[in-house]
Amino acid sequence: MKMKMKMKMYILAVAFGIGLAQHNSHTKHGRTSIVHLFEWRWADIAQECERYLAPNGYGGVQISPPSENIVVTKPWRPWWERYQPVSHNLCSRSGTEQELRDMITRCNAVGVNIYVDAVINHMCSAGGGEGRHSTCGSYFNASKEEFPSVPFSEKDFNDKKCKTQSGNIENYQDIYQVRDCRLVGLLDLAHRREHVRGKVANYMNALIDMGVAGFRVDACKHMWPEDLRTIYGRLHNLNTAWFPPGSKPFIYQEVIDLGGEPIKACEYYEMGRVTEFKYGARLGTVIRKWNGEKLSDLRTWGEDWGFMPSGKALVFVDNHDNQRGHGAGGMSILTFWEPRLYRLAMGFMLAHPYGMTRVMSSYRWNRHIVKGKDQNDWMGPPSFPDGSTKPVPVTQEGGCGDEWVCEHRWHQIRNMVIFRNVVNGQPLCNWWDNRKNQIAFGRGDRGFIVINNDDWALDETLSTGLAGGTYCDVISGQKEGGRCTGKQVVVGRDGKAHFRISNSDTDPFVAIHTDSKL
Ligand SMILES: *[C@@H]1O[C@H](CO)[C@@H](O)[C@H](O)[C@H]1NC(C)=O
Repeated sequence: MKMKMKMKMYILAVAFGIGLAQHNSHTKHGRTSIVHLFEWRWADIAQECERYLAPNGYGGVQISPPSENIVVTKPWRPWWERYQPVSHNLCSRSGTEQELRDMITRCNAVGVNIYVDAVINHMCSAGGGEGRHSTCGSYFNASKEEFPSVPFSEKDFNDKKCKTQSGNIENYQDIYQVRDCRLVGLLDLAHRREHVRGKVANYMNALIDMGVAGFRVDACKHMWPEDLRTIYGRLHNLNTAWFPPGSKPFIYQEVIDLGGEPIKACEYYEMGRVTEFKYGARLGTVIRKWNGEKLSDLRTWGEDWGFMPSGKALVFVDNHDNQRGHGAGGMSILTFWEPRLYRLAMGFMLAHPYGMTRVMSSYRWNRHIVKGKDQNDWMGPPSFPDGSTKPVPVTQEGGCGDEWVCEHRWHQIRNMVIFRNVVNGQPLCNWWDNRKNQIAFGRGDRGFIVINNDDWALDETLSTGLAGGTYCDVISGQKEGGRCTGKQVVVGRDGKAHFRISNSDTDPFVAIHTDSKL
């Protein structure tokens, strides 16, 4: 019987081939979430792995693109210059190749994985400049499509395949334009060419050999799935210094599919996970109570809302694009600028079993919205007058200084990342709602969350599924030295507990789990 099972598993694995393998995030010690440390320096990430992420149950870090990019100085260095590569050399505003290696080694040593934001769809924009205005000082000439340090040259780009007048993507209803033309002027690499496939795979393999656990692949909608399949198929197994032999890199692909376009996220499922952009956009509208939507609607949250299968989805409340009006989602996206609702959204996401969760960690910028558009949506990270990125200072209270927001250190979010680890694998159960904006649900017999987004108090006795005892709420406080620093919840022998959540509480939700029991 056992043998038969094994044989079946083996046949399944072969049938799905590389597909199955690349969905595994390889997070360690039962850790389930990753955090995007947007624009952080490698030296700071290394420290953060050791002093904060590992002790608090974060499974991995998505880092900003490590590849050499153009340097834009007018009016000041924008964050998006890092999405305009000029070579595969590994120096950037986050640090040198040596610092990158040191970070990967130190994070791996404490069981925190590194996932690289891989910008492989394109090089810099046609107007990206020339000379040595690049982060490692490598020569390039964008107007000539010359990138000698890869090397890529004119023939390695898709210009001849693109049929639009401008050479840019003009119509998202035409899949040939979306994949063969330039995305906002960015020189579009020809992944059908052996030379390009080889160079891209070499770049990713160099990072794998250094010890990264996988990739967030940028702009996948703009690449043909068959080309990506070929490139992924050439990737090395993960470095056995830190991962079991035969481990394939985890792949999660940025595909913005809100519906309404011919290119669908499902074209990419087989090759890895895919970013589910509907998740944050829809959760934002529900929590803002737009269109008469309410928390009780979340009873069916997941595939029933037209989302991709949970096992394929990488989910997030906001990302570096849509928190500043780029990408997808529009005005409904919740961010750190609205901290109370944001924490509520993060609490729900981290408690709910759907998808693999990514926490956003941002920096503040001079937001200046005119007619719904942020005039300063380009602003780069906190930096010195010479344009170099500032380190992330940690304050006495455990937050971050110098305009680094560090949402991942907010105790409510940090404690819900731990909650998610504690309830991992448990089914959603004991759902309760008041048909309006008060909801509660459990995760097996390991955790329970109650949320009040109505304009009046929640005052209910609910079945939690937890064993009797006294639990510390991990939102108003936590368990510390054998006592609760915030609210206490007493669960009776029958598994029931009374909850009172004022609509004016700092955070109108309560969460308890087996590790927060006194
Ligand atoms: C870049 O290419 C353009 C077009 O061929 C050429 O005119 C220009 O001199 C080149 N720039 C450099 C710095 O080589």
